[in-house]
Amino acid sequence: MRLLLIVLVATAAWAAEPLELERGRAVYRDACEACHGREGDGKGPGAANLTPRPRNFVTGSFKFRSTATGDRPLLRDIVRTVTSGIRGTWMPAFGPILPASDLRAVSAYVLAFGPKEDPPDQLVGELQPLADTPALRDRGKALYETLQCGQCHGPEGRGDGPAAATAVDDQGQSAAPLDFTIGLYKAGSSPEDVYRTFVTGLDGTPMPSYGDSLPKEEDRWALVHYVRSLSRSPGIFRWLFAPRTSWE
Ligand code: HEC
Ligand code: HEC
Repeated sequence: MRLLLIVLVATAAWAAEPLELERGRAVYRDACEACHGREGDGKGPGAANLTPRPRNFVTGSFKFRSTATGDRPLLRDIVRTVTSGIRGTWMPAFGPILPASDLRAVSAYVLAFGPKEDPPDQLVGELQPLADTPALRDRGKALYETLQCGQCHGPEGRGDGPAAATAVDDQGQSAAPLDFTIGLYKAGSSPEDVYRTFVTGLDGTPMPSYGDSLPKEEDRWALVHYVRSLSRSPGIFRWLFAPRTSWE
């Protein structure tokens, strides 16, 4: 009896994956293939004129990862992107329209287009942000200069550094370094999101990974708070309720 139970449980666990991929394929056909292509090569019928182009999933190179540069992302990285979308691009946010089980299934299906390797190590796990203080921002400003983020992002973070004009991605399309003063981040603007971006880098773009050059947690959060402090866009509440000031 006990043996039978073990066999049954083992079979159920084995069957779960193909079932999830089946479901993932169905969701993919409905919601993704018009842009990303039936074969996941980024060449769907709706992809031709989009900048940046929809990702080619076959190469296994992804921008938004919690894994080291060059590694494929974890399932949860894909789920995060598919849920929130990529701001300022044609990649929609599916969180509001798909149930959690479908978000997961379609993300597993996306990963299955890529190389079949062992799951990579997670480089950035659960984060505990250090509080934003003026001292930490000053330190972040100094690091921004030492690490020469301004070469691409500009000395004041306006996305106008000397290397910005010639920056291209792995598809040969222009890849503009973010203008931090606008404050609209593709991968989300929370301190955790910004931390993940420069620690792991954005593969396929000129944005490098700074994990090795910034081993200290304190330095990483210093840079996060400095970069986020450059945002000049007034939030909607400030716009509605603040006394009228010079940004009008
Ligand atoms: C209207 C076109 C469009 C549709 C529909 C679309 N995408 Fe995308 N997707 C894009 C574009 C464009 C990018 C590239 C954005 C960039 O490189 O900044 C992208 C990028 C991605 C990425 C790459 C993120 C990374 O880390 O590099 C993933 C994963 C993704 N899409 C998943 C999906 C899934 C899953 C669906 C369906 C549920 C979907 N997309 C539907 C246009 C689309
Ligand atoms: C060689 C050029 C280059 C350098 C140097 C560089 N970046 Fe970037 N960075 C880019 C590009 C290009 C993008 C936009 C990529 C994209 O949109 O796909 C980017 C995007 C970003 C983003 C936004 C990610 C998002 O969610 O939209 C952050 C944050 C960032 N960089 C931080 C930094 C920090 C901090 C430094 C210095 C430690 C730095 N970058 C140095 C080229 C660079």
